Amino acid sequence: MEIEKLKQLLTLSWKKDTCSPGLRDKWNEENPSLGQCAITSLIVNDLFGGKIMRCMASSGSHYYNIIGNELVDLTIEQFLGDIPQYESGEERTREYLLGNEDTKNRYMLLNKNLQGLIRKNVFNIELSRIQNQSVRKSTETILDMIPDYFYEIPASSSGKYHPIFSLGEGGLVRHVKVAMRILEEMFRDEAFGTYDDYTKDLIRMALMLHDGFKSGKTNSGHTCSEHPVIMSEFILDNKDKLLISEEDAQFVSRLILTHMGPWNKDKAGNVIMPVPKTREELLVHLCDYMASRNFLNVSFENNEICDSVDREKSLALSKNR
Ligand SMILES: [Fe+2]
Repeated sequence: MEIEKLKQLLTLSWKKDTCSPGLRDKWNEENPSLGQCAITSLIVNDLFGGKIMRCMASSGSHYYNIIGNELVDLTIEQFLGDIPQYESGEERTREYLLGNEDTKNRYMLLNKNLQGLIRKNVFNIELSRIQNQSVRKSTETILDMIPDYFYEIPASSSGKYHPIFSLGEGGLVRHVKVAMRILEEMFRDEAFGTYDDYTKDLIRMALMLHDGFKSGKTNSGHTCSEHPVIMSEFILDNKDKLLISEEDAQFVSRLILTHMGPWNKDKAGNVIMPVPKTREELLVHLCDYMASRNFLNVSFENNEICDSVDREKSLALSKNR
């Protein structure tokens, strides 16, 4: 992540309860970085390394970072133009800052706010394609509730059965993005059927969530064959939190339940899921199936599918083969 992007996300993550207790009464949304310096310097240090520094400023002690040779102060705006006395800055260790119980708790809270935003941002493009607000909000609700590991693990634990782009950290998210992209291409081609806008949104919701429990309710470290069952039940168990009807929740749940197609057995060989039958069920399975073909090569840039593949370079490469 770039530092500017982190600043944007932190601006939305700083809240009154992450502000240091002494300044909390003065905190407001117009000056969100007020009283957030120590915990922000810890987050910057988590992501970019370098040193955490402490100096004096108009309102007392102030924390900032040095990364490489550069001074990075993401909470300077709280001083409304006053410049902290960086020349008197001294290094402080993480342990020193986290030794304070209140700082530690506020740091954990800020991190939680930030991770929540990062999660939502990951599917910004895909969520923006969902036109119906209730379907979009319901999808976001479930995305907020699924295990953290979903956003971190590769699509294949062995690395053997999925294309390169879906391996490594965040690989499962990239797999879902490619499946979602294939879905959009299928929607564009009426030869594969026409769907009303609302049905399209429900299909998008199902496909975005289909692998939410890929490694089980807690991360088992490998693909859990029951993952479609877990997610489809999770949707129904939480239908009261969703803004879609029970019937629509059933529809989405069913699309998820059948997404594995013929691979519908547990390790002991027992059939645990129905196979897809309706055209919507077949479509979700097809998109997931195609996105996991080993030969597929999709370019990603900053975790988004790259449409502007360097065609000249690719053509030159193919001529040399
Ligand atoms: Fe999948």
